[in-house]
Amino acid sequence: MADRPLALATIPGDGTGPEVTREAVKVLEAISKLEGFTYEIEELDWGGDRYLRTGELIPEGGLDLLRTKQAVFLGAIGHPDVPPGVLEKGLLLQLRFQLDQYINLRPVKLLPGVETPLAGRGPDDIDFVVVRENTEDLYCGVGGYLKKGTADEVAVQQAIYTRKGCERCIRWAFEYTRKRNSPKKTLTLVAKTNVLTFGHDLWWRTFQEVARDYPDVKTDYNHVDACCMWMVKNPDFYDVIVTTNMFGDIITDLAGILQGGMGVAAGGNLNPDAGGVSMFEPMGGSAPKYTGTDQINPIAAINAMAMLLEHSGQPAAAARIEKAVAHVTGTKMKSQAAGRMGYGTAAVGDLVVEALAQH
Ligand code: IPM
Ligand code: MN
Repeated sequence: MADRPLALATIPGDGTGPEVTREAVKVLEAISKLEGFTYEIEELDWGGDRYLRTGELIPEGGLDLLRTKQAVFLGAIGHPDVPPGVLEKGLLLQLRFQLDQYINLRPVKLLPGVETPLAGRGPDDIDFVVVRENTEDLYCGVGGYLKKGTADEVAVQQAIYTRKGCERCIRWAFEYTRKRNSPKKTLTLVAKTNVLTFGHDLWWRTFQEVARDYPDVKTDYNHVDACCMWMVKNPDFYDVIVTTNMFGDIITDLAGILQGGMGVAAGGNLNPDAGGVSMFEPMGGSAPKYTGTDQINPIAAINAMAMLLEHSGQPAAAARIEKAVAHVTGTKMKSQAAGRMGYGTAAVGDLVVEALAQH
């Protein structure tokens, strides 16, 4: 009996989201033929335009629809006519929370030919992974105002940390470090235990306890401010980092630029539990002013598609895309920054497809 087709949803989203999604799907189509698997895509028009038209963010029944899929691909959200926070909280964060995607996995790998702002560093120096908790912390939206709009205004925004939330993330990070099995085989906890003496103490104690189950994995700890310094000074020091949601957000932008920036950085919002639905996205935003100009680098989206396949039972397809992408960045493209690729968005997708046949 033939395998069932891989059931996917895409949310191309706003701005340049649709054009990079198109290239990722182009690569999916090519690799599915080469590797002999089938897929079905349901494309969803969620995002800023739909919101402005209908007032809907996640339409009714939308979450149940996604729960029938094996994975979701998200292009980008963010619309110049929608106030900040509406789409981010109402769409992206809702999806992460409601689908309980408690891991935000962000590989940081400098590909051959890609420029890093770090002088004298190359692909051998920059190859680590950030495991960011994805459902708690300052992102919970817990808080409020007192005397709003007056001179005595008070605003409170609370960070929530639970034992369950940090333990499942830390445990997953240990498993991941073990499987990744790099010569360093080190999991570094990044937090701020010297100031956040309650919430990050919970993380610290949980990290120590879970570590006992992984004697083969070395452990380390960095305060988040020091981590930013080390990441620039000694990126080769890191193997896997596990951190809280807010700090993970910040350090992965720093890490993203080390690997060449938003044109290449991708991430996965994972629900690793049985039947869980994960969502993969290029890390860049919707870049409204570049919409339709064929200038945005689709490599990040293509990398996100490779991650999707790796986590959806097609690891060989994922590895093959990674090889093809490295071939293209290493031999064809001038630079990975937007508009300086030497090729348009669609042409880069074509180059990856062409390289797939040879890798
Ligand atoms: C990211 C983004 C989001 C986040 C925003 C858009 C809500 O910055 O995926 O890193 O803060 O998590
Ligand atoms: Mn971010």
